[in-house]
Amino acid sequence: MSSPSNGKLWAGRFSKAVDSRVNDFNSSIRFDSRMYAEDIDGSIAHAAMLQSKGILSKDEGERLIAALLELKQEMAEGKVVPPEDAEDIHTFVEAVLTERLGDAGKRLHTARSRNDQVATDLRLYLKRHVPRVSAALAELVETLWVRAEEHADTLMPGYTHLQRAQPISFGHHLMAYAFMFLRDMGRIRDALTRMDESPLGAGALAGTTYPIDRHQTAAALGFAAPAGNSLDAVSDRDFCLELLSAFSILMMHLSRFAEEIVLWSSWEFRFIELDDAFATGSSIMPQKKNPDVAELVRGKSGRVFGSLMALLTVMKGLPLAYNKDMQEDKEAIFDALDTVLLCLSAFTPMVATMRVNAAAMEQACAKGFLNATDCADYLVSKGLPFRDAYKITGQMVSFCIERNTELSALSLAELRRFSPLFDNDVYDAIEMRACLDRRQSFGGPAKESVLRQVQTARKELKNYR
Ligand code: ARG
Repeated sequence: MSSPSNGKLWAGRFSKAVDSRVNDFNSSIRFDSRMYAEDIDGSIAHAAMLQSKGILSKDEGERLIAALLELKQEMAEGKVVPPEDAEDIHTFVEAVLTERLGDAGKRLHTARSRNDQVATDLRLYLKRHVPRVSAALAELVETLWVRAEEHADTLMPGYTHLQRAQPISFGHHLMAYAFMFLRDMGRIRDALTRMDESPLGAGALAGTTYPIDRHQTAAALGFAAPAGNSLDAVSDRDFCLELLSAFSILMMHLSRFAEEIVLWSSWEFRFIELDDAFATGSSIMPQKKNPDVAELVRGKSGRVFGSLMALLTVMKGLPLAYNKDMQEDKEAIFDALDTVLLCLSAFTPMVATMRVNAAAMEQACAKGFLNATDCADYLVSKGLPFRDAYKITGQMVSFCIERNTELSALSLAELRRFSPLFDNDVYDAIEMRACLDRRQSFGGPAKESVLRQVQTARKELKNYR
């Protein structure tokens, strides 16, 4: 007896075809067909295992594997494209095999479920494609240290609260981001290591009565091991959430950097000028050169954070094991992956090509009392307790603000009105470049320290390769 299946593999117990609106609503083929290679590789591993266990005959196994390889090739070449009304990539592949092989195709689904299939496909896809993010990050880190070496002693104001604080070097500032992006690489690597377990063979939720070998399929697909609990294997999407968290933190870092690039390229700062190829113009204001790439990166951080929130919310109330809600995992993780790659592809060359206006940075150091801490430190070196030195320097700063002048412009007589400890050597001590050069503490902004940081970053990056 045949049922009105409209092509559904699961049509047996139904007496009506699915409503076309439900079919559209339910279908995931629009976004899961990008996992076709992983789905087919999973089926090949499964078929080979079934055959070696005698669950499929040698002939059936061989025909299945040959047909799967052929289909993979055809899909890679665009000769076979899943129709829009297909349910998902898993049912599509099985349907093609059944059409081409008859009974052998129908036997492929023995001892497996779409639930272990989709969990396997997605892990496999991410194992293969997320390393592209790590490679793009490596390129960014390399770019940063190249530019940091160029500017290891380019004087620049360091800020807190966006108020001028103490002198640093531009190289020091860039290396701060290099270390953030190295940690992002570490988080991604950790997530990939933890998700390196194969769900295949977990079945719908409760394993199977067939004598399958999950170690064999796990090894064939390049997983470190089979997942240890069949219910867990098909239920959780923590591997997506970990990656989304790592991507969100990475986007937060990129977004802060983008914000600084927007600030630095403004006329108020003029610390950098973006290369013409990495900026855009205005349709009405002829003078404009806008930092669109940086702004768009800053803006796109929102959609990655959104995907993390969306999937956390999808998962938080689901009873074990699979629920259809979980189909929402793929658009979230795919969009985040695509967004991160897209942002990095434009951001890195923008950083590589931006021109640095060292003169403007140095000029910005002349105002704002960046050497006030050094002035207090000078008094400390003459024997004053730091708290007293701090207070005296504060009074000197307010004296200078009233007269619109700088600490270094005060005469020795004026200085001595604040403290008799001042001597002629104070001018060398509070000279801005000297203030930078003396900041040689580990991790600090002095040239030698920045160059050491570059060496550390080089070593760390090797660990991630
Ligand atoms: N398209 C589904 C998804 O992406 C595949 C798993 C379907 N499993 C099921 N029991 N309906 O989640």
